[in-house]
Amino acid sequence: METTPYYFYDLDLLQETLEDIQLNTNGRNFHVHYAIKANNNHKILETIAKRGFGADCVSGWEIESAIDAGFAPSSIVFAGVGKTDAELEIALSYGIGMIHCESLEEIFVLNEMAESMNCRPKIALRLNPDVNALTHQKISTGLSENKFGLTVEEFGELVTRLDELNHVDIVGLHFHIGSQITQMSVFEELCVRIQEIVPQYEKTIGQLEYLNVGGGLGVNYDQPDEDLIADFKGYFDTFYNGLNGMNVPIHFELGRSVVAQCGSLHTKVLYVKRSAQKNFAILDAGMTELMRPALYAAIHKIEKLTATAGPHLEKDYDIVGPICESSDSFGENITLPELMRGDILTIRSCGAYAESMSLRYNGREAVGSNLRKKVATQLRTAIA
Ligand code: LLP
Repeated sequence: METTPYYFYDLDLLQETLEDIQLNTNGRNFHVHYAIKANNNHKILETIAKRGFGADCVSGWEIESAIDAGFAPSSIVFAGVGKTDAELEIALSYGIGMIHCESLEEIFVLNEMAESMNCRPKIALRLNPDVNALTHQKISTGLSENKFGLTVEEFGELVTRLDELNHVDIVGLHFHIGSQITQMSVFEELCVRIQEIVPQYEKTIGQLEYLNVGGGLGVNYDQPDEDLIADFKGYFDTFYNGLNGMNVPIHFELGRSVVAQCGSLHTKVLYVKRSAQKNFAILDAGMTELMRPALYAAIHKIEKLTATAGPHLEKDYDIVGPICESSDSFGENITLPELMRGDILTIRSCGAYAESMSLRYNGREAVGSNLRKKVATQLRTAIA
């Protein structure tokens, strides 16, 4: 058995998920770019690249990792509200497919850089459609109060200065309203807004060649086994119907829904501590390996993997990590078969935003050294 904690990835499930996405996009002018920020593990990137998906990157490092894993540069889109000059240079030198710009200054910096590098990138303007994603406030991005997207004022100025932009081609629009969206009505509303916005923008920037509607499809964290594969049919049908009549390729940037359910965090119970009020199970994984509960009060399903010896008692536990922070907790009063030192637990739905958000706080081992080597494949039942 591997030394815990480690991330366990079920690559069969990942393949099934990718197949389902392809099934629901085939025959439509839909192009899916995997949002690498959800999980940049090399094996995962390679698997997704091999099936012909594009990549959505938010840093120079992500662009290089995508290319290293086999994504075609032309299939890479680059987003981010604060791209550095060095990162823009990386994007230009690889000739990636599209750069999503979020401020007027960024567009002019890019134009200047493209002139000096003698190239002509395609760019899409990220707009803020002011749609409420009905998700956690910290992962909502499409409201006018959020920092994302070109403001209306900046677009107004851009229109008056278009003739200064001789080294970029503005060919499209980009939207992303938030993450872990579980209500299709939110995507329906996004489509309605896009149908309103596009004709206004086409008046000034010309007919669109590219429309990117972002990512955001949510997954079932409460009962992962009921929805191991997210509702891609509902999601893609919503955009197919909602954007019907728009004669433009539609691009998507899905992260969480592609990888969340194929990953788990396997961790060992170090100690069980009892008080008059509570039982604590103290794990060897903490917020350093899975930050979502501490950051967003996210709940991930926890299961015991080791067989229970003796009578199958159930008890309530506060499941906590070893980090010196009270927020280092995975949940209170979780009912589990009785736990003992050495038991192995699995924290489910950790394929997205777990390994890629891991930290070295408290002198924890760096991801990329020990933990990353422990990526297990084809082990769905090995520990149970
Ligand atoms: N496109 C853009 C511009 C984004 O900002 C994001 C996610 C995505 C695509 C992918 O969204 P997805 O399909 O994964 O929902 N750390 C948080 C999630 C932050 C999402 C940030 N942006 C969490 O653990 O819930």
